Amino acid sequence: MVDTLASHYGSEGIVERILDALAAAGFDLDALDPDALAGADEFHIGGRSGSQFVADALKVGPGDHVLDVGSGIGGTARFLHRTTGALVTGVDLTPEFIDAAERLTNRVGLSEGIDYRIGSATDLPFDGDSFDAVTMVHVGMNIDDKNSMFAEMARVARPGSTIVVYDVMLTGSGKGEITYPMPWSDTPRFSFPSQRADYEAAAMTAGLALTSAEDHRDLALRFFNEPPASPPPVTLGHLMGPEMPAMFGNAKAAVNAGLISPVILTFVTA
Ligand SMILES: C[S@@+](CC[C@H](N)C(=O)[O-])C[C@H]1O[C@@H](n2cnc3c(N)ncnc32)[C@H](O)[C@@H]1O
Repeated sequence: MVDTLASHYGSEGIVERILDALAAAGFDLDALDPDALAGADEFHIGGRSGSQFVADALKVGPGDHVLDVGSGIGGTARFLHRTTGALVTGVDLTPEFIDAAERLTNRVGLSEGIDYRIGSATDLPFDGDSFDAVTMVHVGMNIDDKNSMFAEMARVARPGSTIVVYDVMLTGSGKGEITYPMPWSDTPRFSFPSQRADYEAAAMTAGLALTSAEDHRDLALRFFNEPPASPPPVTLGHLMGPEMPAMFGNAKAAVNAGLISPVILTFVTA
């Protein structure tokens, strides 16, 4: 068991594990397509499909500057930049993830459009009104203070900006208890999943107006119960290590039991 949230996520050698696996699978590391990283760099339910939902909801394009809060090793940031042309800044509290995000982004030649900072979602290291849109993907489950989380996203976003939160939320209807380790925490100590109503209340307190809400339970059921026939060359196991199968199994059980579901909430700032 770990004693800080960052040590749940971070470990030495993330980039080496990923690149070694890709080299072993025959990829040319000097001409790497960012898609080759997708099995390891999209740490959220639905993988690429989830990133696509977020991109569609953000509605950004060239000339926009997007903040990705809790950017992990940069999968969503790279996808958003490649598919929309927007500049992207990622912020994350796990130093090893920021280091991996920078190195992988550089490796696939996207550093001119994306930068990363170490920082906390509840005390963002940016001036007010800095971004045209803000997203957060599978991060709120680690944050107890949802009011500060939304207040910070609202503060750094310009007036009229879109804020898209794609998180694992409690459904309030399933039977049973969440079993740990979960992908976002190996202990209840750093785990604060909440119901959609709590997110919406905190967002309203921060002055945000809800424009859409989508529960992607069907995507989650497919993601956990219908794995691809052949696994991708890199997986979340290369990112998180040997505990990943147990985390995945517990998340699958919680989804199947109806305890949790991935939900996308889209807001606009005042
Ligand atoms: C499940 S991962 C998701 C990463 C990424 N958004 C993705 O979808 O691939 C959760 C991420 O949130 C980060 N995180 C958790 N709590 C945070 C906080 N309070 N401030 C900033 N980052 C945080 C973790 O370090 C981790 O990178």
